[in-house]
Amino acid sequence: MKNFIVTTTRKPDAATENFAEKISLKLGGQFVRREDFSFDALKKIHGAENILLVKKNSLGVVTAEGELFFHPNTAHLRIKNLRGGDGDRLTDALKISAGSKVLDCTLGLGSDAIVESFIVGESGKVVALEVNPLIAEVVRNGLKNFSEDSPHILQAMRRVEVVNVDCENFLKTCAENSFDVVYFDPMFRRPIKKSSGLNPIRPLADARPLTEEIIREACRVAKFRVVMKEHSGSAEFARLGFKILDGGKYSSVAFGVIDKGYRLL
Ligand SMILES: C[S@@+](CC[C@H](N)C(=O)[O-])C[C@H]1O[C@@H](n2cnc3c(N)ncnc32)[C@H](O)[C@@H]1O
Repeated sequence: MKNFIVTTTRKPDAATENFAEKISLKLGGQFVRREDFSFDALKKIHGAENILLVKKNSLGVVTAEGELFFHPNTAHLRIKNLRGGDGDRLTDALKISAGSKVLDCTLGLGSDAIVESFIVGESGKVVALEVNPLIAEVVRNGLKNFSEDSPHILQAMRRVEVVNVDCENFLKTCAENSFDVVYFDPMFRRPIKKSSGLNPIRPLADARPLTEEIIREACRVAKFRVVMKEHSGSAEFARLGFKILDGGKYSSVAFGVIDKGYRLL
């Protein structure tokens, strides 16, 4: 991972500073007292590319593209729509329902994982993997502590289990059919920059393409289905053996599936 330091907001209380030191030990980045330095000055002095910023009740990463912080983003509206009886393209593609077990291999900012968690409920399970330790820490912390939303969204957030790991390594440790579905939302081969809320994640995110080996492993681990989101018209669907689902005619994203011949429910 690229070089980073850990610091706090200006004039932190003792608990915030202790927490920052604890995180720096956990992630291996140097803890630096903020004093009155600007982020640019700190980056220059310590030769750091990114800053993990510890605030009183949340975390952020100061990157070249802005600050990455946790927020439910699209999950809020999508769950509101689901509660109002509308569908959701992702959860329809996954074919999940209460009690399903989902392995989300690309946590990112966690919006998809929150919606999955809302659908599978308390009797189900969502394990979400993120290879970048800073993204994983910010989003894990946010899912645990974010408090400005309605109870059913907060409960869905709290239930997501975040693991900081490369999905290929994790999949290899999983037993056959141990999750109902496995989901991938990799960084698109052709980024949709204009409308994307993902810009601050770009300098940190792992943008390697998925491999045939990862998809083979996912097919072994999924009991029913493997799903991938990509740019509409992406050659990744054909390269990796996904059938593109109909729908989202006017959308720039598409969902592809590899079915194992069963249906959930
Ligand atoms: C497009 S984002 C996912 C967005 C997410 N679905 C959401 O709703 O916010 C892709 C994320 O997957 C992560 N990633 C890429 N390759 C990975 C891998 N091999 N294992 C685990 N995470 C990976 C990236 O670092 C990035 O954070």
